[in-house]
Amino acid sequence: MSELLKVEHLTKVFTSGLIGGFEIRAVDDVSFTMRRGEIVSLVGESGSGKTTIGKLILRLIQPTSGRILFEGKDVLKFSRGELRRNYYRQVQAVFQDPFASFNPLHVVDRSFHLVFDSYFPRLDEGEREKLINDALTQVGLNPDEVLGKFPHQLSGGQLQRILIARALLLKPKLLIADEAVSMLDASTRIDVLNLLGDFRDKYGTSVLFVTHDLALGYYISDTTIIMYRGTIVEMGDTERVFHNPLHPYTQMLLESVPDLNVKWEFRGIEPEKEEGAVYSIQGCRYAPRCPRVKEKCFNVRPVLHEVERNHWVACHLYGGE
Ligand SMILES: Nc1ncnc2c1ncn2[C@@H]1O[C@H](COP(=O)(O)OP(=O)(O)OP(=O)(O)O)[C@@H](O)[C@H]1O
Ligand SMILES: [Mg+2]
Repeated sequence: MSELLKVEHLTKVFTSGLIGGFEIRAVDDVSFTMRRGEIVSLVGESGSGKTTIGKLILRLIQPTSGRILFEGKDVLKFSRGELRRNYYRQVQAVFQDPFASFNPLHVVDRSFHLVFDSYFPRLDEGEREKLINDALTQVGLNPDEVLGKFPHQLSGGQLQRILIARALLLKPKLLIADEAVSMLDASTRIDVLNLLGDFRDKYGTSVLFVTHDLALGYYISDTTIIMYRGTIVEMGDTERVFHNPLHPYTQMLLESVPDLNVKWEFRGIEPEKEEGAVYSIQGCRYAPRCPRVKEKCFNVRPVLHEVERNHWVACHLYGGE
């Protein structure tokens, strides 16, 4: 599989507008690559920077520093026109809040027609109707039940599936799915996850699957990236990360998932206790909460290094410098 997306030293600092306001390093020196057809899950607790990474890749916000390469091209240099004509045809996204993605004044069908108007203006009514029906059926919706309806007349789960159907209409090379199945009930969720997998198999679509649900990440992804407060603490082959978690934060996360059928030995890590602890700016961000913390962790930022093949960790317990 060849490389599709490369993110290098990506950083986003939000500043509060006030004089003397504080900075939030929402994404801090994040680097990773995605191959064609690869499903990568981006896992981390609320506020760890997952959505910000998605928005940066989509150029919805500007990074403070770093690079984003798509098929080797510098995404940050694309003009508005290039983004619209080219990039957004290949990179599609489904976001967390489906209600925010629809215009409340229009029936949901319109969101499909906007896609057709932009990218396939020559399609006639009949062709459009067939594509919409197929796309909706694929995500388990009955077209008659949703077409002609306003967003407020549909459930969050139905709207989320319409968004997935619309995103897949363009057969994108990359789909950013940000908590895209969170509103679905368990059985539909598995159907939609399987659909994403099938889509990848059929069209080679890569998926950046953003979730705070480890079990979903495990189910769907080839590669797992674990984020903590804007930084990647561990990443690699999903089987390796789940069966041999290295970072104390990953170990704690896995320990707190009761029903995940993963066999790794519990090494006596305590669940975290210091909710909202002030994180270490110079050192490891997890240091104030880490049960295996050493002096060095407060002073020196650990860098990601490969501990076993395709399994990376940023933690002083494993050397690396
Ligand atoms: N526009 C913004 N202005 C200021 N701070 C922001 C902005 N957007 C995000 N943040 C902050 O950046 C951090 C990361 O937010 P982000 O939405 O990326 O987290 P997340 O991992 O997606 O969380 P969740 O799981 O809750 O969706 C948070 O501290 C958030 O408050
Ligand atoms: Mg988010």
